[in-house]
Formats: sequence, C-alpha cells, structure tokens
Amino acid sequence: MLNPWFFPVLIFFTIFLLKRFFSNPSKPHKNLPPSPPTFPILGNLHQLGLHPHRSLRRLAQRHGPLMLLHFGSRPVVIASSPDAARDIMKTHDIVFSSRPKTNSAQKLLYKQRDISTAPYGEFWRQIRSICVLQLLSAKRVQSFRSVREEETALLADNIRAFSSMSLPVNLTEMFSSLTNDIICRVSFGKKYDESDIKKQFRELLGELMRLLSSFNVGDYIPRLSWVNKINGLDAQVERVAKAFDEFLDRVVDEHMEGSNCKITKGEDNKDVVDVLLEIQQDSERDGFSIDRDCIKAIILDMFAGGSDTTYAALEWAMTELLRHPKILKKLQEEVTGMAKGKSYISESDLDKTPYLKAVIKETLRLHPPIALIVPRESRQDTKIMGYDIAARTMVITNVWAIGRDPALWDEPEEFKPERFLNSAIDFKIGNEYFLLIPFGAGRRGCPGLLFAMTIIELVLANIVHKFHWALPDGNRKEDLDMTESAGFITHRKVPLLAIATQRF
Ligand code: HEM
Repeated sequence: MLNPWFFPVLIFFTIFLLKRFFSNPSKPHKNLPPSPPTFPILGNLHQLGLHPHRSLRRLAQRHGPLMLLHFGSRPVVIASSPDAARDIMKTHDIVFSSRPKTNSAQKLLYKQRDISTAPYGEFWRQIRSICVLQLLSAKRVQSFRSVREEETALLADNIRAFSSMSLPVNLTEMFSSLTNDIICRVSFGKKYDESDIKKQFRELLGELMRLLSSFNVGDYIPRLSWVNKINGLDAQVERVAKAFDEFLDRVVDEHMEGSNCKITKGEDNKDVVDVLLEIQQDSERDGFSIDRDCIKAIILDMFAGGSDTTYAALEWAMTELLRHPKILKKLQEEVTGMAKGKSYISESDLDKTPYLKAVIKETLRLHPPIALIVPRESRQDTKIMGYDIAARTMVITNVWAIGRDPALWDEPEEFKPERFLNSAIDFKIGNEYFLLIPFGAGRRGCPGLLFAMTIIELVLANIVHKFHWALPDGNRKEDLDMTESAGFITHRKVPLLAIATQRF
C-alpha cells in the first residue's frame, strides 16, 4: 500500500521545483514592506472605504508605518509615521519628487502641464520656480494685502447682516465664497459679482474638485478603463474640461486685449494672469517658454490647490472654537488686546499673536485639509526604512494619522492649542518637524503656505474679534456633527451654522 504522505510530499516538491525553475536566480531577494492580504484584481482597493485616511490608519496599526498596498495592479506605499515621512520627503526627496499620471488630471489639467501634477523634470522645475518666485512669493502675497483686507471686511459685513436679523450664519458657505473671491481677484484681477457667472464658476470649480478626486478605475485597473465610459465619468471630465477651457480662454483674451500690462499696471497691481502673460513674452527671449495651455493649467492650480484647502481650514477652526468656548474666549482676549481699541484687525496687528497661531496649528493637526498628501511617485528603485521600494511606486503619506498618533501626541483626539505654545514644532517648508506636515514638505511641498496662512489668520482674528459666537439655539456642542465629507479635500459633511452677536 502507498504511504499516505506520498502525494502531499510529491505536490510540495513539484511546486518547489517549479518555483525554482521559473524564478530568476540573478534577481536578488527583495525586502518589501509588510502588506495586508490582497483580493484578486482589486488588490486592496476594497479596503479603502469612504474615508481612506481612516481605513489606512487602521491598516497601519496592524501592519506598520510603512506598508505596501496594491490599488488594483498599482503598487502603493503608505507612510504613516514621521520617520517614514522624513525618509520620503527629506532624505530621499529627489527620488520621490514625481507625481503619478492620472487619466482625469491628464484631461482636466492640460496633460498635467500644471505645477501640482506635472511629473518631475525640467518642465516642472521651471513652472515651480515661476510659482515660487513670481506668483506666490512673499512680495507678491504682500501685494495682495488690500484684496484680503477688503474681502475680510465684506465677510464681516455679511455676518453683521445675519446677526442683526438674529439668523444663523452659514459659515461654510461664507468661507467658501470668501476664498473663491480672493483667489478670483488675485488671479483674474476681478471677481464675478454677477450672481449667474459666480454661481456657474463655483459649480464648475466644485465639479473640477470632485472629478480630480473621483476614483478612476482606469488609473488602477487599466483593462477596466471602459467602465468610465459606461458610468459617465469620461463624459463628465470632457464636459468640465471643455467648459473651463472656454472660460479660461475668455479670461486670457481679456487680459491680452488689455495689451501691454507692463506699462498699464504697476508691479503691485498685477494679477496672476498678467504675470504669466508677461513671463510668456519674456520667456521666448530666455529660452524656456510657457504656452497658453500651461498658463491655463497654472490658473486652475491656484483654484484647485488654494480655494477649498483654505476654506476647509477656516471651517474646521471655527468648528473647534464653537465646541470649545474657553479656547474661543482666550483667543478673543488675545486678538482684542492686539487691536488696541480698533474694530478692525489688520495684518500688521498679527505679528504677536501666538495663541492664534497655536489654534491654527492645532486645527491643521486634527483636520489637515489634505489628509493624504497629494500622491508622489518614485523615480528609481530605492530603500526606505530598510525596505525596497521599486521605481514607479505610488507613495502616499497619511498626515491625518501622524497628527493623531497617541505615541506622538498627548491626548491626540483633544483640541488643545496650548500644546503648541512654547513649542518649536512648525510646518514651514524646509523647517518641518515631520510630526505636523499639513502642507507636505521638501521639493514638492506646498508653495501656497504663506498665501493660505495670511488669509486664515486675518479672517479668524477678525471674526472672533468682532463677534461673539454660539451654536444655534438648542444645539449642544457635544451634538455638533463632526462627520467628514468624502473626497480629496476633507470638509465638514454638513455646513457649519452659528449665531453671531456683534461685539464692536
Ligand atoms: C490650508 C491651505 C493649504 C493646504 C493645507 C495645502 C496643502 C498642500 C499639500 C499637502 C500639497 C502637497 C505637498 C507635497 O507633495 O509635499 C500641496 C501642494 C500644492 N499646493 Fe497647497 N495647500 C494649501 C493652500 C494652497 C494655496 C493657497 C495655493 C495657491 C494659491 C496652493 C498651491 C499648491 C500647489 C501649486 C501645489 C503643488 C506643488 C508641487 O507639486 O510642486 N496651496 N498643498
């Protein structure tokens, strides 16, 4: 009779020999980061859920701060600790300074000829330097000071109107409108007050943001790209790309008709389109040229990168202040002290406001508007924390998880701005502590940090200085809905309503 172990042993040896036969002996053994089990075709996509930053934190708690996942057939590394983030955005920054190609960004952002999604290379370096040195430099941000101050004064007038009728203020709507108007004025030199155009533009922008963060199956499972035709995604992308293109063409034409902006406008009065057109004229001389599509792509970046992020930060800051009246009171005391009797706080009053700055840091720790940093892509094989990472791997840093890690923060779920008083922790690009990186870091770190912070500080300081704030009658702070929206930028799911009472 045959030994009962004969067949299992035979199968084992056959598999072993086949594996040896088909494996490439010249290929060294790879030490890959830990991975959760995958599902055929989907990889780990089914584990992401509506709020991927939350699901990915749960996975990291089981598999560690550097994980290798698969989104369909794409390898994706998830970094969830300051050490992993530092390795990616500082130690090996040059390797991880590219961005992956995505179908929607290709169509919506002029073949990714914009700053945020362009792959690493000479083209990106040139437009990034235009952005850092010309569009969002400290000098340029300063030149838009009157725009910020006028729009903040208008916001206060609107709040006052609701307050005088004892009606709740929809802060979500007001912050969204404010940041959109500021970026419109800075980019186009005017805002669209005619309610129809304003409404259309904001709807279009909302669609752009939604489509850029929509799941595009073709990015991860190329053989299923046809699904985008059936589910209508391709058609929506085409429609929004066309509508934006027509709108931006009109804007560029209007600016060109204004002829030589160098002569008609002083340096301080130039908007983003003026500056870009001027660079286009000069660049033909200097060897590097930006074309019309590139100008339109950069304008879209200003809106896509700057508007929703900034208003999300304001919205979460006010949410937390309404939930923490003592912190709100302490902030009011600080800014009112700075105002020295004036009813309006100007930017120059904001230098010595450590508590305001701590409130903003704490907001961005708990509610980073971009919870999962804009994906990077590795440009060559490399090693991170002892693990092998292959070229063309997508890399995502979970800023939200780092901000709430109990090993790094005392009572991480609590809103306690005091933790940042007398603390060196900062998020300035080039000076980051990788504990707090809402603006990313390194070569691809956010160039709009100063632009955003000047708006957030000015608006928050003024609205807490001018008004007392409370939740609408009957709403207890414990019951305030804190659910997050789905999508690339994390907003509140439901609008924030509050009652304002004038102080001055
Ligand atoms: C609170 C507000 C903001 C937050 C939280 C934020 C966050 C970020 C993050 C996380 C990145 C990716 C960084 C990385 O890969 O390391 C980024 C990139 C970028 N941001 Fe911001 N941002 C904000 C405001 C702005 C504003 C106001 C603008 C422009 C008006 C802007 C323009 C950009 C651009 C152009 C990039 C792409 C940079 C590149 O890839 O080279 N952002 N931002």
